[in-house]
Amino acid sequence: MSKTNIAVLGAQWGDEGKGKIVDMLTPHFSAVARYQGGHNAGHTVYVQGKKFVLHLIPSGILHPGVICLIGNGVVVDPQALFAEVDELARAEIHVDGRLFVSEKAHVILPYHRELDVLSEARRGERKIGTTSRGIGPAYEDKIGRRGVRVCDLLGDRTALADEVRENVNARNHMIKDSTLDWKPVFDQVVAFGERMRPWVADVSLCLHRMMLDGKTVMFEGAQATLLDIDHGTYPFVTSSNASIGGVCTGLGVPPRAIGGVLGVAKAYTTRVGEGPLPTELSGALADRLRESGQEYGASTGRPRRCGWYDAVVVRYSARVNGLDAVALTKLDVLDGLSEVLICTGYKTSVGTLTEFPADLRLLTGAEPVYERMPGWTTPTKGATRFESLPMEAQRYVRRLEEVSGVACAIISTGSDRAETIVKSGSVVERWLAD
Ligand code: IMP
Repeated sequence: MSKTNIAVLGAQWGDEGKGKIVDMLTPHFSAVARYQGGHNAGHTVYVQGKKFVLHLIPSGILHPGVICLIGNGVVVDPQALFAEVDELARAEIHVDGRLFVSEKAHVILPYHRELDVLSEARRGERKIGTTSRGIGPAYEDKIGRRGVRVCDLLGDRTALADEVRENVNARNHMIKDSTLDWKPVFDQVVAFGERMRPWVADVSLCLHRMMLDGKTVMFEGAQATLLDIDHGTYPFVTSSNASIGGVCTGLGVPPRAIGGVLGVAKAYTTRVGEGPLPTELSGALADRLRESGQEYGASTGRPRRCGWYDAVVVRYSARVNGLDAVALTKLDVLDGLSEVLICTGYKTSVGTLTEFPADLRLLTGAEPVYERMPGWTTPTKGATRFESLPMEAQRYVRRLEEVSGVACAIISTGSDRAETIVKSGSVVERWLAD
């Protein structure tokens, strides 16, 4: 068992393979806690040959005895939650007593999805490319102070009726000639609350008590730093704090509770949805990465945009999150390429930038500054020791560490849990051996 609570979060634009890393580390922790996002996230985990696609419930639920918590920073779509609970029950995995949902989490109401689609349509060419799950509108209501929280579903019915009425009125204002009746929405959310009741808890208090008992927790991020509402490529971001600050606000834990921060980064870069991706490739090379990396969204099935590793991005993530180490994933996807490129800066209209800019217009037409390195023909697939990687792959990883300013403590060489290198002497080894 680890003696340190750690956070695991995405260092690029999401889909870095956090699911596998979290799954692999879970047996070392008593609990896994999600702090932001909603069912826009998605990861696929295989247990004894059976495939599970989880969006909301931490994949820790697949490990017997591990407690799973959904923090106040998450927006919860009750129907999505029930669908996952039902899928798990069909596989004889029962969540009662192991799943806790924050009473302060905001609820994605039945029409938030419709508002998401509408808002994208209104943006036209400037659309974000959201997952259409109603995430943005639910967070808008939260910040607009008209949201409905999980505890509201369980409390005074008159107060809930008022909240739902106010929220539906706000919605009707947004859609021309729309007169949605609040009462059926009210009835639906009351039913949602009743089904959620056994799992509802004061998650901050649960975590506090667990930590006092000497139990350790893994804080699990969804999406990633460059999709963070504050630190990402705004407005092409999700609506929550996916970076490290989200752990404290999204779970009600103090900063000192976070003993270590592990960033997950792919050995190349991908992104779904719109927005800048400075190292984006097109043509045969992009197709090659997409096919061998199976770069299709776990939630929406959308093909992911693919590009070379961007060290400006990972160095930025290391700074914003205080990364202690990186888990580098999908190194094997680069097997067989004659050359691998690393972006170390962007040539822009105002000169060469080596720090990620806030003003995205600077990235329009920017040309990545690349370092070129020889590729490798001997496969890295399945390697479990750094020394057994081909020399060129070892050099590539070392160079990524230098230019990103953070060590790769874990290197993933395949989708299976066993296809992983944990570098000896690394901070991760120390966390787990403590
Ligand atoms: P939303 O979170 O559905 O509002 O989408 C906002 C942006 O975040 C879009 O570009 C999505 O493609 C992206 N996004 C949301 N969730 C994920 C994820 O789990 N992986 C990668 N991108 C995501």
